[in-house]
Amino acid sequence: MKPKILVTREVFDEVLDYLTRYFDVTSNQSDIPFDPSTLTEQLADKEGALITLSDRIHADLLARCPNLKAVCNIAVGFNNIDLEACTQARVMATNTPGVLDDTTGDFTWALILATARRLSEAEAYLRAGQWDGWKLKQFLGLDVHHATLGILGLGRIGQVVARRAIGFQMEVIYHDVRQATQEVEETCRARYVSKDELLQRADVVTIHVPYSAATHHLIGENELKRMKPTAVLINASRGGIVDDSALIEALRSGIIAGAGLDVFENEPLFNPGFLELKNVVLAPHIASSSRNTRYRMAMLAAENLVAALTTGKPPNLLNPF
Ligand code: 8YV
Repeated sequence: MKPKILVTREVFDEVLDYLTRYFDVTSNQSDIPFDPSTLTEQLADKEGALITLSDRIHADLLARCPNLKAVCNIAVGFNNIDLEACTQARVMATNTPGVLDDTTGDFTWALILATARRLSEAEAYLRAGQWDGWKLKQFLGLDVHHATLGILGLGRIGQVVARRAIGFQMEVIYHDVRQATQEVEETCRARYVSKDELLQRADVVTIHVPYSAATHHLIGENELKRMKPTAVLINASRGGIVDDSALIEALRSGIIAGAGLDVFENEPLFNPGFLELKNVVLAPHIASSSRNTRYRMAMLAAENLVAALTTGKPPNLLNPF
């Protein structure tokens, strides 16, 4: 008998075909997210699961799923998984590093340019039929070329963003918990500075750190006040790293000039205060959403699941035990 697995959200047919070769697959192709108790019920008799950031894996759920051996996230971030609880329960957890770096980096640039050049605001104005002619001072924005880019977190995605900045002839500064190697700094043409210096000097601040207790509200009222009033903040990493209420207040009162956001606290029920602001570009967590990349993410997660349940050695194991 093939092991039973659950695919919690809609995936590509090819991914289901691949999984079906190895497993007895139950899949939620209707794509309505499971509430926590349905997820637990659905997983109760499964050995493995392909999950996404909307599925929370925690000790209570694991206690009710005695057969579970592997949970494979279709995401590089894994703050939806309690890794310690997984290790305790001897459940392997995996993620999808590497395959989404370029696409997420590209989208970060879409946010940087759209925010600096006020694209959403200008388009809304045009669509509302308010354009009555060219004006010299219409939608004056921030120059991205030759500006200073401040990257918080020079990991895989931060490095992609930095390398793209070379084309815009920007000065790139970064801050991270650890200074990058000389080789990385050279390829990215990025200089290590303190978080304070980065906030004070950057024209564009972009966040590329994982979410954890240590990065919760890494950017709040105090940090926003250190930024230039002409600067913009970009977040395509995780909701919760920015204090959204503090950001709304900063955008409202002109503490900073704008923000480009792909992620929010309490997704998808994000703070409605954002909708009242013109100086913010909003996207529904789509930074990795190109056809190729979402396919590669889902396939990599499936390969992790197959390896976990056949060899016990998935390539992207997060909690070796
Ligand atoms: C995913 C992401 O789309 O990989 C991540 O961590 O944030 C996105 O690329 C999302 O997490 C889907 O689970």
